[in-house]
Amino acid sequence: MKVVIETPRLILREFQPRDADALARVISDPETMRFYPAPFDRAGVEGWITGNIRRYEKNGHGLWALDLKATGEMIGDCGITLQEVDGEFLPEIGYHLRRDMWGQGLATEAARACRDYGFEHLNAEFLTSLIRPENLASRRVAERNGMKVWKQVMRVGLVHAVYRLTREEWYASARS
Ligand SMILES: CC(C)(COP(=O)(O)OP(=O)(O)OC[C@H]1O[C@@H](n2cnc3c(N)ncnc32)[C@H](O)[C@@H]1OP(=O)(O)O)[C@@H](O)C(=O)NCCC(=O)NCCS
Repeated sequence: MKVVIETPRLILREFQPRDADALARVISDPETMRFYPAPFDRAGVEGWITGNIRRYEKNGHGLWALDLKATGEMIGDCGITLQEVDGEFLPEIGYHLRRDMWGQGLATEAARACRDYGFEHLNAEFLTSLIRPENLASRRVAERNGMKVWKQVMRVGLVHAVYRLTREEWYASARS
């Protein structure tokens, strides 16, 4: 099990095939996935894991599993993937949390750790988060991560706000 980041309450580590049951409790939940085209079935859950394992090999990063230190349970994911925006692949911070874990600041804690990792270890010039405008909780996490709306794009036929934080903004905010 490869641990990537540790925060006060969470361990961010690489996904393994045996995470499928715990991940299904997150991304097969219709309420959690209401801003996505559909919740994921079993094949989709397994594809999510193998896709991220492929990303670790190819890019050195991807969505990482979130283990709650207090219980050892896997409760969601957060990480950095490359997403196509206007023909370019940009580093994107994404997060998905099991529903009974919402509202405790856990996504913000994980997203901030990924932001610092992206600038400190991946040499990113900027980081983004792609969010449906009506996804208020996700927008709030991006804002608390220091991001602002940069532009809007269409993805899978739906409007998405592209939130962005540049290395300069991150560096300045860390020192203010
Ligand atoms: C987005 C998500 C990861 C947030 O997880 P979380 O751990 O509950 O987030 P946090 O507790 O760190 O912060 C959530 C913030 O959104 C706010 N919020 C939550 N639900 C909200 C709502 N319906 N409307 C407005 N704000 C809301 C909270 O008040 C909090 O802001 P605050 O700290 O300023 O009060 C979680 O809701 C989730 O898994 N959603 C489904 C998957 C998803 O949409 N992922 C993002 C794809 S772009």
